[in-house]
Amino acid sequence: NPELRRNLRVGPQQNRAEGNKCAAAIGEPAQKRRFNDVTPGEVLTLADRIKKRVVGQDHVIDQITESIEMAKADLKNPRRPKGSFLLIGPTGVGKTLIFEVLFEELIKTAEEEDGFICIDCPEYCLEHDIAKLIGAPPGYIMSDKGGLLTNHIAMYPFSVVLFDEIEKAHQSIYNLQMKITDKGMLTDSQGNKVSLSEAIIGMTSNVGVKEMQGLKALGFGARIDEETKREHLEKSLFGHFNPEWLGRLDGIFYCRSLAAEDYLKIVDLELALALKWFAERRKIEVSWNEDVKQLIYANGADTDRFGARPIKGRVERLFSKPLSKCVLRNDFQEGDRLEAGVEKEKIIFERRS
Ligand SMILES: Nc1ncnc2c1ncn2[C@@H]1O[C@H](COP(=O)(O)OP(=O)(O)O)[C@@H](O)[C@H]1O
Ligand SMILES: [Mg+2]
Repeated sequence: NPELRRNLRVGPQQNRAEGNKCAAAIGEPAQKRRFNDVTPGEVLTLADRIKKRVVGQDHVIDQITESIEMAKADLKNPRRPKGSFLLIGPTGVGKTLIFEVLFEELIKTAEEEDGFICIDCPEYCLEHDIAKLIGAPPGYIMSDKGGLLTNHIAMYPFSVVLFDEIEKAHQSIYNLQMKITDKGMLTDSQGNKVSLSEAIIGMTSNVGVKEMQGLKALGFGARIDEETKREHLEKSLFGHFNPEWLGRLDGIFYCRSLAAEDYLKIVDLELALALKWFAERRKIEVSWNEDVKQLIYANGADTDRFGARPIKGRVERLFSKPLSKCVLRNDFQEGDRLEAGVEKEKIIFERRS
């Protein structure tokens, strides 16, 4: 675990807060870029930059970035996080991705890769698991190592903090979160305070998704409309979560199911990602035609259950692996430009003249 590894890297200034072993005792944050360094221009173009990488969720992206614009314009309480957003919706439509891309477009720089922490809530399903986030009480094993979240924030105050699949966490996570959303502060088990005033809190929930996907199996027809899905998920949400807690969030947004044209765009994005290093290092350019995209999309074979998740694997299996064989067999040379096409249900690569 990279967070833990970081905590164990004890520097000379680590023991500054007297007597204490960790967490905020690190002293100055390691992070150079802070929320104040983000220019108004960068905030104003944030939505467009995210939309280039996340398909079909423009409405959600707009709401999140407009909320961050308010923080940048000082129209929010400066002591609280820059935003707290809960995303709901079917599987594999970009809920987690939106927060990953938000981090990459807003916080990450070439020099600094940190500033994102994902808390996989299924790993925090027991009450004492929460100690992993803020540190074990004094006297317990590892109590001097502090908590994953408090240590992270002490070093990287300007972070996206993602609570993924929040419904799977133990109830006591709500208390922790209320401290974050109300006071913008967390205290670790050693008594060190860290401020989350620069953090952006992201959450995803799958409450009600299984039942929703079951409706279809029960013969509710091939298409349940988006409004019905959204109503079902919101109802499940209010049945499951503490309304007081829900009421404190900046926004609860519904990520919609994707359509065929969205999936085909995602295929383009994934193909481009797969070739990210290739053109530069091999000096071979590859383009692809519509048949290639259709083959990878496979008519949406399992998109109902998994959304866009299988696409990456299919790109690897159907495109990257055959291309690797061609390259290692020296079928092509530097400077070649290839066109990928489909023959007998397989992707083939040919030199363009
Ligand atoms: N809207 C989208 N735009 C682009 N890629 C997507 C989108 N939704 C899903 N993906 C692809 O599927 C993967 C899984 O998506 P994820 O965001 O984890 O789904 P979930 O909505 O279940 O959290 C992503 O890493 C990405 O490769
Ligand atoms: Mg997810």
